[in-house]
Amino acid sequence: MIFNKVKASILWLVVVYLGVSEGFSQSVTFYKDVQPIVHANCAVCHRPGEAAPFSLITYEDVSKRAKFIRKVVSIRYMPPWKADDHYVDFANNRSLSEQEIATIVAWIDAGTPKGKEDKKAEKALLERTNAGTAYARKPDLTLKMSEAFVQKGDGKERFMMFKVPFELPKGANVEAIEFTSNNKKIIHHANYAIHPVEDTAINLYNTVNVVDLNGESASQYYQWVKYKKEMAYYGGWIPGATYETYPADMGWEMPRRGVMLLTVHYGPSALDAESINGVNFFFKDTPIERKVKVISLGSGGIGEKDITPPFMIFANEVKSFTLKVANNQPDVSLLYAWPHMHQLGKSFKAYATQASGDTIPLVRIPAWDFRWQEIYRYPKPVLLPKGAVVHIEGTYDNTADNPMNPHNPPQLVLSDGNMRSDQEMMTLILMYVERKPGDDTLTFDWE
Ligand code: HEC
Repeated sequence: MIFNKVKASILWLVVVYLGVSEGFSQSVTFYKDVQPIVHANCAVCHRPGEAAPFSLITYEDVSKRAKFIRKVVSIRYMPPWKADDHYVDFANNRSLSEQEIATIVAWIDAGTPKGKEDKKAEKALLERTNAGTAYARKPDLTLKMSEAFVQKGDGKERFMMFKVPFELPKGANVEAIEFTSNNKKIIHHANYAIHPVEDTAINLYNTVNVVDLNGESASQYYQWVKYKKEMAYYGGWIPGATYETYPADMGWEMPRRGVMLLTVHYGPSALDAESINGVNFFFKDTPIERKVKVISLGSGGIGEKDITPPFMIFANEVKSFTLKVANNQPDVSLLYAWPHMHQLGKSFKAYATQASGDTIPLVRIPAWDFRWQEIYRYPKPVLLPKGAVVHIEGTYDNTADNPMNPHNPPQLVLSDGNMRSDQEMMTLILMYVERKPGDDTLTFDWE
């Protein structure tokens, strides 16, 4: 009975909905209705210097691709958003609502009317883009590779690691960080670890500056081990990610002296392509009451050896793995979740269980896609109590039916911690602070 009622009301909704979109197709215009949607959900990637192949900022940008856009938004190919919103809805969710899709489609079907011109929004967006940052102001510090790297046009992907030493007048409180590059189009993803090196007996400069992790120089990586005793922070970038920011009383401390080890995964390129990459830092004068920490669970992190069964995917096999890691710290509040797998990945799920039997959903990616990864922001602090057990479940498809399979024919694939993209990973990175009373009612102010 209830089911019938629900069905009836869905039908009713569809009828009303069609009625509405018919009616408003006459009045939908670019500046009033479409530009705000496109700026909020498309322009993070579709603007100069970012990952997408063209800009979607101005009336001309959007109207000349109207047919194409109608198609990609209708089938939900764009904007890419892979998390299951019903499991956890994230603050940076940029998937379009049905209403937004209907607005774009109605505008295109009405012949892309411009409406009253108002260039304020696009001017502001272009100004920020030209300043080389998506953040609200110029960076206080930029750490960059000393020389440009040339990704050869030989169609091969590369995993490069760069050392960027730094010696600052003093340490600083970090308000936000942002990966920066003059050529993001050739980059699949990047991550960077900030290692403090206080001991001035350790020379920051007498080691190599760059290592090709898949190449002959890979073993030179070990020259850097002496810098890696401590880690102040670990950040990353994937297409679509902008800056990482922290609420007012939260952040981490940029050490005075140390090295940044920056790993960049370059996609295959048909032409030689140069890139200079680095990280922008935004500092704040206010004290950090709550220190943001990062933990990496699974491949290359805590619990790697406890992945069950042992991490091996034979050729022509579809295989699932699980990992359980208990939180042995005091109660914590989560800010961000960053799931990571490579090209064989099919689905990823993480949740925590408590002694009480309660389950805390963390993130679910039902159809993993290596190209569209994300650092997910929680809208509110997610409680991970002391003793809770984090469960990670990953499924991988190492058959020839997986179009993303890097091996043809399929081969044995391992997680051996070297992060090669033709091998696999099952990793969950969490950014968190110690729990405080009041977190129950706190909503993060992310923008
Ligand atoms: C996370 C970054 C990202 C976001 C957000 C994004 N795009 Fe894209 N888009 C890309 C990249 C990268 C490509 C090129 C690769 C591809 O087509 O898969 C692309 C390709 C396209 C294409 C060409 C498709 C093709 O088959 O060549 C269209 C049209 C498009 N995007 C429209 C949009 C619209 C409209 C939005 C917002 C509603 C949007 N995109 C949001 C990254 C993004």
